[in-house]
This record gives sequence, C-alpha cells and structure tokens, in this order.
Amino acid sequence: MAQIKIINVVGARPNFMKIAPLMKEYLRYPEISPILVHTGQHYDYQMSESFFKSLGIKNPDYNLEVGSGTHAQQFGKIIERLEPILLKEKPNLVLVVGDVNSTAACAITAKKMNIPVAHIESGLRSFDQEMPEEINRIITDHISDLLFVSEKSGIKNLKKEGISSKKTYFVGNVMIDTLINSLPQIEKSEILKKNNLENKRIVLTTIHRPSNVDSKEKLEKILEILNKIEKNSIIVFPMHPRTKKNIELFDLMEKFKSLKNLLILDPIEYLDLIKILKNSWLVITDSGGIQEEAAFLKIPTITIRENTERPATITCGANIITGLNTKKIASQIKKISSKKYPKIKNIPLYDGKAAKRIVSIITKKYNA
Ligand code: UD1
Repeated sequence: MAQIKIINVVGARPNFMKIAPLMKEYLRYPEISPILVHTGQHYDYQMSESFFKSLGIKNPDYNLEVGSGTHAQQFGKIIERLEPILLKEKPNLVLVVGDVNSTAACAITAKKMNIPVAHIESGLRSFDQEMPEEINRIITDHISDLLFVSEKSGIKNLKKEGISSKKTYFVGNVMIDTLINSLPQIEKSEILKKNNLENKRIVLTTIHRPSNVDSKEKLEKILEILNKIEKNSIIVFPMHPRTKKNIELFDLMEKFKSLKNLLILDPIEYLDLIKILKNSWLVITDSGGIQEEAAFLKIPTITIRENTERPATITCGANIITGLNTKKIASQIKKISSKKYPKIKNIPLYDGKAAKRIVSIITKKYNA
C-alpha cells in the first residue's frame, strides 16, 4: 500500500467547515499522512481559531501568517511562503477547498511545482468575473487534477469549459457533512438563551460581499431593506469585519443601531451560527455557504446578490436571487410568510457522506 502525503490548505472562515470532515475521514486510512497548512488569510479568534475548537480540527502544522491585504499581496505572500513547505514536505497531493484567495494561490504554487492538486467544491460558477471568488474558482479548476463537485450544475459547467470528465467526481457537499456531524452539539448551543432569542421570530442576516458593503449607497439600501422587515421579528446580524469597518467608515453605524429590532453581533462561531439559522424563519444573505446550509435545513432564503454559483439551492425551492431590489424582496417575504410557500426539496448528495466518497476516490487513485 502506497503512502499518500496530502497537504490540506485552509485560509479563510468558510474553509474550516469544509476541511473538518476530510481531516476526520483521513484517520480511517493508515496510508494517508495529512498535513494541515493555514495561510492565515483570516486570523481573528472569531474568524479562525474558534472554528478549529468547535469542529475539533487539529492545530495547523504550518501557518503562513499572510494576514489581510490586497489581492496581489495575499497571493504573493501565500505563493512565496508555501513553496518552501512543499519543497520540504514533498507531498503526493495538495488539497484545496472552496474559492477564496488562499484556495487559488496554493493551487497555483503546487501545480507550478508539478504537484497534483485536488479541488473540493469544483465547478460552481456565478458567471460574474467581478467577484474575486469566480476568478479563484476558474483558475483552480483549470489546473486541478482531481475535481470534486458538490452539486450537479458543477459537472455541467466543467464539461462546458472543456475539463475532462475523467477528472471530475460528483461527491456531494462536505460542508453539509460538517453540519450533519455537528447537529448534537448545535442542539446544546446556548446562543439563543444568551441573547434572549428563545421562541422569537428570527430573521438571520449575513452580509459581507464587497459588491454590497464596499459602497455607502449599497449599505444605505441594505439599511432600507432591513427597516422594512416586520417589527415583530428580531433580525440577527453577526457582522463580518469588512462590513463593520465599512459601516463605520461611511458613518452609518448609528443608523443601523437605531433599528429597534436589529441585533448586531460580532462574528459568531459555527455551532452558534447554525443554531440561530436552524431557528430562523427567514435568511437574508450574500454568503455562499449559508445558502447551502439554509437549503439543507429547509429555511427560506433571500440572496441579496445578482447571481448565485449554487443554483441547486434555487431549484430545491429554498432560495431566490433578488439583488437589492426592495420590491422583489418585499414580495418574496410576503410569499414566505403565507401558507402557500412550496415545500423545499432535498438536494442530491447532501447526505453527510461527501468526505467518505472523496477520500475513497483519492486512495483508490494512489493505490491503482
Ligand atoms: C474572504 C473571501 C470570501 C469569503 C469570506 C468569508 C476572498 C477573495 N474572499 O472575504 O470569498 O466569503 O472571506 O469571510 O478570498 N479581517 C479581519 N479579521 C480577520 C480577517 C479579515 O478584521 O480575521 C478584515 C480585514 O480588514 C480585511 C477584511 O476583513 O482586510 C477582508 O478580509 P479578506 O480575507 O481580504 O476578505 P473577506 O471579505 O473576509
């Protein structure tokens, strides 16, 4: 049996719940030696370490400590700092997840050194190259050797882009593995009690995309949208550092705080966030992952973006794309509040077994 050394990369908040089930699954394979590299793209306790704790992920073997900066700075630092580690460790495979800068920068570094790359969450496309994530997805997919796809649209997209079907595998969603594995701990979360949210009508909102939060106009529009939500609901808004920084920069914090039914929180750790999500009747978000987690939990979602790379969340009936169109949002909220809202269907392979499929494919490949 060949030994398989896998360097696994994480960097930003949405990566941690994607790597967790893989790190757990590797333990069942004595032939796999996993190494964990954290690029340090996210570094605040609430954006990083708290996830390692609640998801039981081992401490990273290496931390590149790249921190915040422009895209060029982040890419440059990651590439420069990962190279010596790859030279020293000589892994058989570098595995990257998702679509953040750390994902694409590490994929490029490995591939340039002729080290095979596996990409988890391949094939998602928003068809909007103004999103930095879309660029990261395209780069990463086109240089990966093993492409693990979370929803069927991904298979179609990769085929259209000319990527060989021999490299692509429809395996399901590792983030949903984490959600399913964490359900008993999520039940124990005290976050509702702590914030006096038990038995309340909760609307969860998360907003952090540069396209929504980097301009004053857009933030004012968001304020208007939140102001129109029924007053007997509590809007819970865990605020991303980018969002907070910009709301302060544009002098809008007092206006946000003046909304009586808005509860602004610091970024919250995974188990608490899912506890709130599970107990919400509506989600308003621009996050990628939350669209999927809400669809799995069958919570109606309004995505305040112009597109989604996760169309399965729409076809299953959970999600709608509205941009910041107040009329569309109001009419959807009316529909969700009425008894006529159609039943949300299951998404194929959202079954808790994606990591099992992935690791089994990797080991078969290396033992062939
Ligand atoms: C990144 C990802 C995005 C993902 C998001 C999840 C890219 C291009 N974007 O966006 O896809 O949805 O993470 O959170 O990779 N900051 C802190 N503390 C931290 C991290 C960041 O205060 O621990 C602040 C800094 O001011 C930083 C800003 O947030 O400049 C943005 O961080 P960055 O990693 O550049 O992008 P995100 O907006 O977090």
